[in-house]
Amino acid sequence: MNEPTIEDYFHEDRVFPPPASLQAGAVVSDESVYDVAAADPEAFWADAARTTLSWSTDFHTTLEWDLPFAKWFIGGELNVAYNCVDRHVEAGNGDRVAFHWEGEPGDTRTITYTDLLDDVSRFANALRHLGVGRGDRVAIYMPMIPELPVAMLACARIGAVHTVIFGGFSPDSIVDRVNDSEVSCVVTADGGFRRGAPAALKPAVDAALPSCPSVKSVLVVRRTGETVEMTAGRDHWWHELREQVDAECPPEPMGSEDLLFLLYTSGTTAKPKGIMHTTGGYLTQAALTHAWVFDLRPETDVYWCAADAGWITGHSYIVYGPLANGATQVMYEGTPDTPDKDRLWRIVERYGVTQLYTAPTAIRMFMKWGDEFPARCDLSSLRILGSVGEPINPEAWMWYRTHIGGDRCPIMDTWWQTETGAHMITPLPAITALKPGSATRPFPGITAEVVDDHGDPVTEGGGYLTLTGPWPSMLRGIWGDPERYRETYWSTYPGRYFAGDGAKVDADGYLWLLGRVDDVMNVSGHRVSTTEVESALVDHPAVAEAAVVGATDPVTGQAIVGYVILRAGVDGSAELVEEVRQHVATKIGPTARPKAVMVVPDLPKTRSGKIMRRLLRDVAEGRDLGDTTTLADATVVEEIRRRAAADADAPGGGAN
Ligand code: WTA
Repeated sequence: MNEPTIEDYFHEDRVFPPPASLQAGAVVSDESVYDVAAADPEAFWADAARTTLSWSTDFHTTLEWDLPFAKWFIGGELNVAYNCVDRHVEAGNGDRVAFHWEGEPGDTRTITYTDLLDDVSRFANALRHLGVGRGDRVAIYMPMIPELPVAMLACARIGAVHTVIFGGFSPDSIVDRVNDSEVSCVVTADGGFRRGAPAALKPAVDAALPSCPSVKSVLVVRRTGETVEMTAGRDHWWHELREQVDAECPPEPMGSEDLLFLLYTSGTTAKPKGIMHTTGGYLTQAALTHAWVFDLRPETDVYWCAADAGWITGHSYIVYGPLANGATQVMYEGTPDTPDKDRLWRIVERYGVTQLYTAPTAIRMFMKWGDEFPARCDLSSLRILGSVGEPINPEAWMWYRTHIGGDRCPIMDTWWQTETGAHMITPLPAITALKPGSATRPFPGITAEVVDDHGDPVTEGGGYLTLTGPWPSMLRGIWGDPERYRETYWSTYPGRYFAGDGAKVDADGYLWLLGRVDDVMNVSGHRVSTTEVESALVDHPAVAEAAVVGATDPVTGQAIVGYVILRAGVDGSAELVEEVRQHVATKIGPTARPKAVMVVPDLPKTRSGKIMRRLLRDVAEGRDLGDTTTLADATVVEEIRRRAAADADAPGGGAN
C-alpha cells in the first residue's frame, strides 16, 4: 500500500528575481492578484470575462459546476471573431499590423487588422456559400500561412466548429478525425514550403476523402502554385470564391457554451480524442493568460509564438489569445534551419520581436547547433521568453536565458495541455522569482495540488499533479464520448482532474513538472522521474538533449538507459559516455545513475516535438516497435536500433 510516490532527486538552487526593468508599466505588477483571485475565483473570472472581452449579451450566471461538467458565463452571448478582429478596427486600430508573415522562401506579407477583417468576412461568406452553417464541423489542413488563422476565425464568425489537423499528418489521420466529427467541409491548400521546397497538402486530402462520406466541399488556398487536381462540384479555389462573395459578414452571436472547436489529441496508443472547447470561457482564459504571462503591450510589442497553429499552443497563443488582445505578431511558415540555422534569430532581429514563445525540444536543438547562430543577430528587442510542451531542463533553461534572452529576459515556463485550453501553471514576468526548470505556481484563479498514491496532498516532495476546481478554458468533454471524458480525467483521484503528469513541490511551494507518469521508472523500488535524470544528463556540458527509459532488469526491476545527443563538435568517446554516467550519479545520486548511456544522432519524437520514450523502451528491451504512427521521423528509431546492435557486438563500446 505504501509505495513511494515519485522521488525527488534534482536540486536546483539558482533563483532569478523579476527584472526591475519590467516592473514599470507591467500589465501585472502586484502579487495581490493571487490573493484577490483566491478569495473568490468565480468573481475573479467573471471580472476577467467582462473586462477582457466584448459580449453582445452579458451573462447572468458565472459558473454551473456539476463535476466533471462545467458551464461558464451562462446566458452570455459573444462572437469570437468579433472579439479578435472587428472590435480592434472599431476602436481605431485597423491600421495596426496583426501579422508580419514570412514565408520560408523569404516572401513576406503584412496584414493589418483591417485586412484581417476583410479576409475573415469573405472567407466566412465563402464557407456559407459552400453550405456551412452554425454547428457544422469544418476540418482545416493547412500550412502556416495567414489563411490558416483566417479560416479558423471565419468558422468562429458564422458559428461553425473547426477542427484543425496538423499539416504533417497523413491521409489516415485525416480520415479518422473527419469521420469522428462528421466534417462537411475541408479547408486546405495546394501545399506549403518546408526545407526549401514545396510540400504538397491537397493530395493527402484527395487520398483521404473517398473514405469520408460526410464531406461535401473542399476550399483550396493557393500557396505554392504547384498543380493540384480539383474535383468538379466538390473542390473550390479560395481566390476565385473570394471575388464572388460579399465583403461583409455580420458576426453570429454565439452562446458562451457553444462549441468553438474540436482538437484531436493522439495520446500514445488509443483512438484520438476530440477535445471540445467552447466559446466564452475559452476565450476569456486564452486572452487573460496571454496578456498577463507575456506582459502584452499591444501598442509596441511584436509577439511571436513559433508553434504551429495545428496544435493547441497555436490555437490559444497565435490565434485566439493574441488576436483578442489586439497584438501584433510574427508568423513564419517554414523550418528553423532554412536557409541556415540562424533563421529564427534573423526574424527576431528583422521585426524587433519582443516576446518569443517556443518549446524545449526547439531550445535543445538550438543548443545542439551551437551558440554562434543566435550570436550573429541582434536579439536586444526581446523582453520575455516562453517555453511550453515538455519539462524544460535547467541547463536548457539557462542556455535560453543566456544566448537568446541576453541574461535579461525572464522565461515563462508555462504548463498546460490541449485539455486545459490555456496556461495553468506559470510565472508572471514582473512578479515571480524564477527557478530554472520550475513552472512556479498556478495562474491566479487556478488551483492545483500535488497528491500521493492515495490522493492526499503532498506539501513537499514528488507526486501527481491534479487540478482541484473548474477553470473557464477547461475542456467540456470528448466529442461523442462523455463517459471516456469522466473516466480519463476525473476518475483516478475522486473530485480531481488528473492530467497524467508527475510533479514535485519544493520547500517554497514551487511546482516542478516531472513528465508523464507513464514514463516514471522503478529502480530497486525507487520511483525515478525521467525528467530529473534527463536534466542531470543535459547538465553535463557535452550533452544537448537526453531521453531516459526504464528497461526491464533482472536485478533492479528496471534499469535506467539513457540516450543522449551531444552538442555540435563534441566527440562521443567511451570515456565521455562514462563521464556522463558519473555526472548523473554526482548530480542527483547513485540510484539514478544510468546503467547504460548511448550517443545517438536524434531522438524519436511526436510531430509536436515530444520525446516518445515508449519506443526507446522497446529498443532497450529488444522488442518490436509498438505503434509508430505518431512518430515524426520513423528512420530515427531504426538508426538507434542499429547502433544498439553494433554496441552489443563490440564489447566495451558506447553502451556500457
Ligand atoms: C507536457 C501543450 C512540463 C505535459 C500545451 C502535458 C509540459 C502535455 C509543459 C500536454 C511544461 C506541456 N512543463 N511539461 N511547461 N507544457 N507539458 O496537449 O506532459 O500538446 O500534459 O499541450 O505536455 O501536451 P499538449
